[in-house]
Amino acid sequence: MRRLDDQRVILTGATGGIGTVIAERLVAEGASVALTDVDGDACAELAARLDGDTLPVRLDVTAEDAWRSVVLAVRERWGAAHVLVNNAGIGSLGTVGSETRERWDQVVAVDQLGTWLGMKHVGAEIERSGGGAIVNIASILGATGGLANSFSYAAAKGAVRSMTMNAALHWATRGVRVNAVVPAFIGTAPLLERYGGTERHTAMLANTPMGRLGRPEEVAAAVAFLASDDSGYTTGSEIYVDGGWSAR
Ligand SMILES: NC(=O)c1ccc[n+]([C@@H]2O[C@H](COP(=O)([O-])OP(=O)(O)OC[C@H]3O[C@@H](n4cnc5c(N)ncnc54)[C@H](O)[C@@H]3O)[C@@H](O)[C@H]2O)c1
Repeated sequence: MRRLDDQRVILTGATGGIGTVIAERLVAEGASVALTDVDGDACAELAARLDGDTLPVRLDVTAEDAWRSVVLAVRERWGAAHVLVNNAGIGSLGTVGSETRERWDQVVAVDQLGTWLGMKHVGAEIERSGGGAIVNIASILGATGGLANSFSYAAAKGAVRSMTMNAALHWATRGVRVNAVVPAFIGTAPLLERYGGTERHTAMLANTPMGRLGRPEEVAAAVAFLASDDSGYTTGSEIYVDGGWSAR
């Protein structure tokens, strides 16, 4: 038996560098997966490519009504959801001094507000379904000073970590476990396209004790563990997939 047989999962940011690999892993573990992303066409393409039980749905995580629609779409297709993976996210390179108010609002809307809205709407559904798990994707930049930039991103990802603990306590006796995965820099194709060979890329490697970027598969493995009953006594917790960054 695979770890997520009969489990219904809602995954956000499913078509990005890490999201695609999480989707592949969840399907391989036997889950039925609602593949959601603000890019609806890419969701349909991913669903066509994956050999599994999937439902592509466009979802902008900042839109509360859209969350209600996704919850209903999953309920109609398979029944109530058991698992939410809050993976959608956007970044920013601005420092405490250079970040703009406009970018701050965008980053906080997707990374922080989007994570909360997902927990609010899908968490209630998971409780109704008889229990399950929420996995939030945070970042090492929300747990340390990072590279002294990405200021609004660090603020929002720090909030993801505190929201994870708070929500875990709320649902502790009601069958909904809430945990976070905290990756350092993961060498996805989009990330390397953006930073490969730049000073930032060099700094990412130099600051990582293991001396290499992480692989999306290594994030997906942590997600699969936290989504499944293998982590049945784990809530309000974090798995660092960071090549040793937080140990420095
Ligand atoms: N790549 C890394 O090094 C790294 C490190 C730590 C944490 N993370 C986190 O992992 C997650 C995935 O990152 P990634 O590297 O795959 O990034 P990515 O940019 O490749 O993918 C992000 C996905 O989120 C989607 N998205 C953006 N705005 C959205 C919105 N409003 N509603 C719904 N979807 C939206 C994008 O369309 C995209 O498919 C993010 O939360 C990111 O912050 C990434």
